[in-house]
Amino acid sequence: MLRCSKINKSFLMDDLIRKEDVLIDVNLTIKEKSLTALKGPSGSGKSTLLNLICGLDKVSSGNIIFNELDITKMSTDQLCAFRNKNIGIVFQFFNLIKDLTVFENISLPLALCGEKKSFINEQTNEMINKLGLWDRRNFKTNLLSGGESQRVAIGRALISHPRLILADEPTGNLDKTNSKKIIEILIESCRTYDSSLLLVTHDDDLLSYFDNILELESGKIK
Ligand SMILES: Nc1ncnc2c1ncn2[C@@H]1O[C@H](COP(=O)(O)OP(=O)(O)OP(=O)(O)O)[C@@H](O)[C@H]1O
Ligand SMILES: [Mg+2]
Repeated sequence: MLRCSKINKSFLMDDLIRKEDVLIDVNLTIKEKSLTALKGPSGSGKSTLLNLICGLDKVSSGNIIFNELDITKMSTDQLCAFRNKNIGIVFQFFNLIKDLTVFENISLPLALCGEKKSFINEQTNEMINKLGLWDRRNFKTNLLSGGESQRVAIGRALISHPRLILADEPTGNLDKTNSKKIIEILIESCRTYDSSLLLVTHDDDLLSYFDNILELESGKIK
């Protein structure tokens, strides 16, 4: 479903002359309906790789092929449409919309697709219930705890049943019991809707849930 070939990514340093190589010749394949964990030390390039796969950032060189389409060649408009249709993202720092409620944040992908109001209500309420956020559904998200915000971010990523879910440390703010619960919700959603999951984690206790485990070190897949 997804193939990354020889991906390089470098960032310009503050002096605008020197470059820092963050990803070096990264190759990666994600199969249909697979569960892949990505681990590696802080700063090894995990979030950078996820940003490239969803097209929020541009590769320095290399190709990212998603179901025959090379996303490195798409325009910004094409990328937005592609992302909304195919990819659900749980950002490391949530990226929730503060002035919207829990319900509005989670339902946003469905609203953007122009779904009917009754369908949006039904799907969103079911998701809110599943995530244990029912008593918070009308709260603006700036009033939520870290763990609650994380669950909203997960709901928003799953609500439209995307082909690929990218999750950047989705259990980073949760206690052990909630971590397990959230991983199980993510995996159950992938199984039900035939999605694939690429999940960044530092928690070795969660690795047994995955088919493949990849490790990044200093920008290279080990
Ligand atoms: N826009 C940017 N400009 C310059 N350097 C950047 C930029 N984004 C990321 N980096 C650098 O790239 C390296 C990798 O960052 P990245 O966020 O991908 O790491 P990570 O593996 O996700 O780490 P963590 O586990 O702490 O989240 C870091 O050294 C970071 O400073
Ligand atoms: Mg990161």
